[in-house]
Amino acid sequence: MAVPVLFDLRPKERIEELYDFRDELNKLIACYRDGRIAVILGIRRMGKSSLLRSFLNIMEYHIY
Ligand SMILES: Nc1ncnc2c1ncn2[C@@H]1O[C@H](COP(=O)(O)OP(=O)(O)O)[C@@H](O)[C@H]1O
Ligand SMILES: [Mg+2]
Repeated sequence: MAVPVLFDLRPKERIEELYDFRDELNKLIACYRDGRIAVILGIRRMGKSSLLRSFLNIMEYHIY
């Protein structure tokens, strides 16, 4: 069920669990593909870690 998952206190780790952030995810994928450095900025608990972890989990090789 989607609703309890949204209120989980931990960062999301899978894009299937990530609400919205489609544009941001596509920008991260483009940066990765072009070898550019990306910086994720935002106030606390707006989903920076969730975005990063979900993104890295769709990459074949990554270090967190
Ligand atoms: N886009 C999102 N989809 C689902 N849950 C989210 C999303 N953004 C934030 N959350 C939830 O909000 C809380 C804070 O997210 P987190 O990734 O830790 O934020 P930050 O790293 O910016 O402080 C967590 O419970 C996380 O699961
Ligand atoms: Mg964080």
